[in-house]
Amino acid sequence: MQEIIDRIESARDLDELEKIRVELFGKKGVITSLFAKLKDIAPEEKKAFAENLNIQRDTFNAKIAQKKAVLESEFIKAKMKRESVDITLFNEPLNKGALHPVMETMYKIIEYFVAQNFSVESGPLIEDDFHNFEALNLPKYHPARDMQDTFYLKDFRLLRTHTSPVQVRTMLKQKPPIRMIAPGSVFRRDLDLTHTPMFHQVEGLVVEEEGKVSFANLKYILEEFLRYMFGDVKVRFRPSFFPFTEPSTEVDISCIFCGGNGCRVCKQTGWLEVLGSGIVDPNVFKAVGYENVSGYAFGLGVERFAMLLHQIPDLRSLFEGDIRLLEQFK
Ligand code: PHE
Repeated sequence: MQEIIDRIESARDLDELEKIRVELFGKKGVITSLFAKLKDIAPEEKKAFAENLNIQRDTFNAKIAQKKAVLESEFIKAKMKRESVDITLFNEPLNKGALHPVMETMYKIIEYFVAQNFSVESGPLIEDDFHNFEALNLPKYHPARDMQDTFYLKDFRLLRTHTSPVQVRTMLKQKPPIRMIAPGSVFRRDLDLTHTPMFHQVEGLVVEEEGKVSFANLKYILEEFLRYMFGDVKVRFRPSFFPFTEPSTEVDISCIFCGGNGCRVCKQTGWLEVLGSGIVDPNVFKAVGYENVSGYAFGLGVERFAMLLHQIPDLRSLFEGDIRLLEQFK
């Protein structure tokens, strides 16, 4: 009996202890078979034999339970030691993502106009001739279509060359008054330092009862907007041409790099062109069935704004997905 108790007490782990338990109490275990033998034993010896057997069974069971408790607690302690984490240990901080500079700039622009009560509208990237050109006073074979190098699909649909078709869609969908912006991607066959085949614009359109909006309103909101984006800059409206506005103006800000003295970025002019705008041409209202209204519209390139705000020299770098560039915008 002592020999078995020694074996129990020197068991190195729970597996070994379990093996001993099975040897004793399993189906073919020593103690189990002794109990089975009980029925063959002469009645006069039976009592003593059974008493002895009960003592053995109880002793072994108690020893096993005791040892089991010890081994289990050792096992847990060892496991905790193995799996513990030293939280005081220095670790690299987790890598956080960030908005792409183009999106960051776009959200900043959207935020301004939403605060001025503009709704945010959208339209499809694949457009048709009517919405992208025709309704915007750009009839077929009009030379001004050459201003925008268009990607055409086989079925004569096209990738929208600007966000202006959303003006048309919104006017067809709603009654005046309208006060909307339309942010989104646009596509042109172009690729150099300052052009990529896909880029982003934010369009703006305000339509009111005839006589309720004028060029003065356009001038005011764009001046305020540009100072919100670029700080204390001078703003200049320069006569220009767009088929869908009349009169049309391009809007310049005093160069944010040289303060207007002339530098490489502004090509020594002291001015940076940032927007197209104008009073909505009556032909556009005719195309969407609007009468007795007046309005203004504007459109801007988001990448151009991002490049100026972050002094990014090559537009293409914004679309290469180089992590070294993107990490600078966290
Ligand atoms: N759609 C013009 C462009 O892409 C921008 C513009 C919009 C100009 C609205 C005037 C009014 O160049």
